[in-house]
Amino acid sequence: MSETISIYMEQDHDLIDGIAERAVAAAAAGDWATLEREGSEFLRRLRRHIEMEEDLLFPAFEQRTGMAAGGPSVQMREEHVQMQPILAQLQSAVSGQDGPGYERATQALLEILVPHNQKEEQMMYPMLDEAMGADRQALLADVKQMAL
Ligand SMILES: [Fe+2]
Ligand SMILES: [Fe+2]
Repeated sequence: MSETISIYMEQDHDLIDGIAERAVAAAAAGDWATLEREGSEFLRRLRRHIEMEEDLLFPAFEQRTGMAAGGPSVQMREEHVQMQPILAQLQSAVSGQDGPGYERATQALLEILVPHNQKEEQMMYPMLDEAMGADRQALLADVKQMAL
C-alpha cells in the first residue's frame, strides 16, 4: 500500500514532539548548548510543518472537500496563529538562556498543540487522504519536497 498523508504527517508530529522533549529537558537542566541546538531545531521543524499544512495540505483539503469557510482548516489555521507568540517566547528563552521561561512557554504551547495534532490526525489528514484519491502521491511528493 502506498504511503498516506496521515502516516507521513503523524510521523512529523512525533518527530517534532521528540525534539520538544529534548529541548525542554535541556532547559530544565540548564544545558544551554543542547537547548540552543534542540530549541532551534524544534522551531525550524514546527514552522516548516505548519507551512506544509497552510501552503499545500489545507488548500487541497478545502478544494477537494468543498469545506472552506467554517470548516476544520479554518480552525487549524487559527490555532497556528495562536501558536506564533508562544514560538516567539520559546525563541527568546533560548537566546536569553531562560530555562524556566522555556519550560513555561513549552507548557503553554502544548496546551494548544496536543489537541491540535489530535484533530489533524483523527479528522483532517484521513479526510484529505480519502478526498485526494489517485492524486494523493503527487501531493505527498510536494510536501516531501518542502522537507528537503
Ligand atoms: Fe497544524
Ligand atoms: Fe500538523
